[in-house]
Amino acid sequence: MKMEDVFAARDLPQTEPARQYYFIDAAKTIVGEKERQLGRKLNYCIHTFGCQMNARDSEKLAGILRQAGYVQSTEKEADLILFNTCTVRENANNKVYGRLGALSHYKKQNDAMVILCGCMMQEKHVVETILEKYPFVDLIFGTHNIYKFAELLVRAMQSEQTVVDIREDEGEPVEDLPVSRKYPFKSGVNIMYGCNNFCSYCIVPYVRGRERSRKPEDILQEIRRLTEDGVVEVMLLGQNVNSYGKTLEEPMSFARLLEQVEQIPHLERIRFMTSHPKDLSDELIDVLSRSKKICPHLHLPLQSGSSAVLKAMNRRYTKEEYLRLVDKIRTKIPDIALTTDIIVGFPGETEEDFMETMDVVERVRFDGAFTFLYSKRTGTPAAARQDQVPEDVAKERFDRLLALVQKISGEKAAQAEGSVATALVEEINAQEEGYVTGRLDNNAIVHFPGGASLIGTLVKVRLKECKGFYYMGEQV
Ligand code: SAH
Ligand code: SF4
Ligand code: F3S
Repeated sequence: MKMEDVFAARDLPQTEPARQYYFIDAAKTIVGEKERQLGRKLNYCIHTFGCQMNARDSEKLAGILRQAGYVQSTEKEADLILFNTCTVRENANNKVYGRLGALSHYKKQNDAMVILCGCMMQEKHVVETILEKYPFVDLIFGTHNIYKFAELLVRAMQSEQTVVDIREDEGEPVEDLPVSRKYPFKSGVNIMYGCNNFCSYCIVPYVRGRERSRKPEDILQEIRRLTEDGVVEVMLLGQNVNSYGKTLEEPMSFARLLEQVEQIPHLERIRFMTSHPKDLSDELIDVLSRSKKICPHLHLPLQSGSSAVLKAMNRRYTKEEYLRLVDKIRTKIPDIALTTDIIVGFPGETEEDFMETMDVVERVRFDGAFTFLYSKRTGTPAAARQDQVPEDVAKERFDRLLALVQKISGEKAAQAEGSVATALVEEINAQEEGYVTGRLDNNAIVHFPGGASLIGTLVKVRLKECKGFYYMGEQV
């Protein structure tokens, strides 16, 4: 293949994913030439920000880089540095700008390729800022065209200027491209993309587009293949898994999808994220209560305990409805672990509103909670409100909430001390020699003596001592 002609070639496939495989080959040729010049392999390093969807996307990007001949390394040795960005809160953006600032010096010394993709790139003002302040960036693309990475990579390799490719519309997702999983024994699986909920504080619907469900056959096929490749645990991913299947030609519920996933042989554990309380069905609670494989853990974002704030957030449930839902779930599945997300300092939040949030936390007693300071996202309805909560007020509330959440989750974790649970062993413990680290079905972490041969297996452990966020245990 003559590299100058790669985009004009007569045999350039017009359909996907064939077109991307063609560009993977082209990239491989270029990488091969570079390898010969340098007398070594080319290295890549990916930094992933944000949620599980981004983590999964990064595995797809890594899959393409590996096929093109790159090997994984640290940033110091990297010939290609990729940032898969998140923009859900301002501090996620600031981290990326910070890293880019630090890189400008490095880039001058080592001629590394710098690539930016992900949610932050779907915002016009971000791309403008990068082109102006960090002109050394080689390639920028968004969330709707990550499948085109191979093609864009080749384009950027041949261009002196920053290549920018951002799509406004979602287009059809392209599957069946190479993936390089972080863990051989567990994997995320996208069941849907985008979000239609437009919570008034949230930027995700703007940067990830409208909700689209994948066909059940495609999802089941992907999971079957994963299990043939050694995967024993899957995490089904979507911004609101409870509305899975509503827009399919043949509509199907999330509960029914779960029942079908459960049938797949050799699959041991099923997790999913995230459940929106407004769409959590009785059918799903039933399926959960009967299942042998679905982990007894629900991540059920509360966001606020005040019905007035919830209304302004466009969450479409009240405090009472949330509490009733929790009761219903716990009646059917008493030992289920419940975790949540809470935002403090939403515009207009009063001290009374905040105390309603504290009240829900005390009543529900979550096993864990991610707490966030409200962050103003340009373009969302909440950002335009005049009644933003002063930073010091929000911070003071945040500290009170965090203290309560930690006290309760610590107490709840301590209740399991002495019991025996099943852990999927994930890795060698980096701190404690001779120890491995595993995850329980309720998502808690346990460290216990063991060796590398345990990785990827399910092991019974006694939870000897609770250390707040994790346990120390022993195999039984
Ligand atoms: N789809 C999921 C959440 C995705 S974003 C759901 O609806 O539950 C993950 C979390 O980030 C949210 O649950 C919310 O708590 C938080 N978040 C989103 N936008 C935010 C903002 N503008 N400021 C602070 N936290 C925010
Ligand atoms: Fe954001 Fe709400 Fe959609 Fe979650 S459900 S991604 S919080 S808009
Ligand atoms: Fe962030 Fe995008 Fe996920 S904004 S939270 S990476 S969907």
